[in-house]
Amino acid sequence: MTGNTQDFPGKAPPDGGALPFIYPPTAANIQFFSDALLRRELVAIPTETVYGLAANALDASAAGSIFEIKGRPLVDPLILHLHRPEAAVQLAFLPEPFFRLAEAFWPGPLTLILRKKPLVPDIITAGKETVALRIPAHPVTQSLLECVGCPLAAPSANPFGYGSPTTAKHVADSFGSRLPYILDGGACRIGLESTILDLSKPGQESILRPGAVPAEALAKVFGHPVPYHEKRAPCARPATAPGMFSRHYSPRTTLQLVKEAGSLKTESDTARIFLKAPETGQRNSPHHYWLSERGDPLEMAQSLFSLLRRIDQAGYGRIVCEVPPAGETGILRAVRDRLLRAASV
Ligand code: TXA
Ligand code: MG
Repeated sequence: MTGNTQDFPGKAPPDGGALPFIYPPTAANIQFFSDALLRRELVAIPTETVYGLAANALDASAAGSIFEIKGRPLVDPLILHLHRPEAAVQLAFLPEPFFRLAEAFWPGPLTLILRKKPLVPDIITAGKETVALRIPAHPVTQSLLECVGCPLAAPSANPFGYGSPTTAKHVADSFGSRLPYILDGGACRIGLESTILDLSKPGQESILRPGAVPAEALAKVFGHPVPYHEKRAPCARPATAPGMFSRHYSPRTTLQLVKEAGSLKTESDTARIFLKAPETGQRNSPHHYWLSERGDPLEMAQSLFSLLRRIDQAGYGRIVCEVPPAGETGILRAVRDRLLRAASV
């Protein structure tokens, strides 16, 4: 035990980490985090997509603190994270494709929207008749879910509107001592939030948010394409179909999207982000960055939020970033979606 912080507001977990508030996922710490959740504390947890800010989902007051600390509007509902698909039975009405989808994609980056049962507190669902469920694939959070024995409500662990965290340090940078329990699971393997699939209206399934489970894979399970309507115009209006604030994930620095960053005039107060490492002549500028060395879509997803965060802290006046074209499939569709939402008009 290192007792790794002096201004710790409560009891510290048994096994300390190198940085304040960030704890290694030892068995003793997982037990401690589980107890903290049952005492209504909020904790940050790793998932394969992004870090989540978790509370006991069956406790309305614990879930309420999530909205407070994130500055999240109460109209924006939370995702419930489960240990096993069977746990969904008491939380939601499960239509026929549920178990086939669970079998195909869980644990993994797919969130299902279902008609809710009364056990789910209204604050979680923002008063809606539907609830979002997913089983995350990260082994640390799997252990925590098993240990705590209740579903965990967990939005991404970032202040509302900012980019999602993909490391424990990102979470600590955003919340400091306001969130003293962060369970370290390393860098997130996917780096973008889960695909959200609405199953609440039989026969009218639709993708509400693209993610690492692509539309093509869902189409195979359904035997027909599943529609997704790309959100475009930035607006501050809370969407009536939740999940879908069209301006989101934004860095503080002005972000502009371009098809191709190579031909722009160089300005020292502008950071340029390429999707793929540019030609030799363009590589040496300190103001040029890229999401992937060889143009690998998963690598682009993994590095997007992390790179935007790093550049945001570097004090540029403007960020210009290449965006994958409309009509992309697979995870590039999700990269495009996050960039469209993050961009400043
Ligand atoms: O990968 C993820 O999904 C991450 C990790 C932590 O699991 N979580 C995440 O949560 O991205 P959050 O709260 O940042 O995004 C969840 C989205 C929100 O946009 C919310 O409006 C939508 O899911 N959502 C939640 N419940 C919904 C519902 N009943 N109907 C429609 N959308 C819903
Ligand atoms: Mg979020």
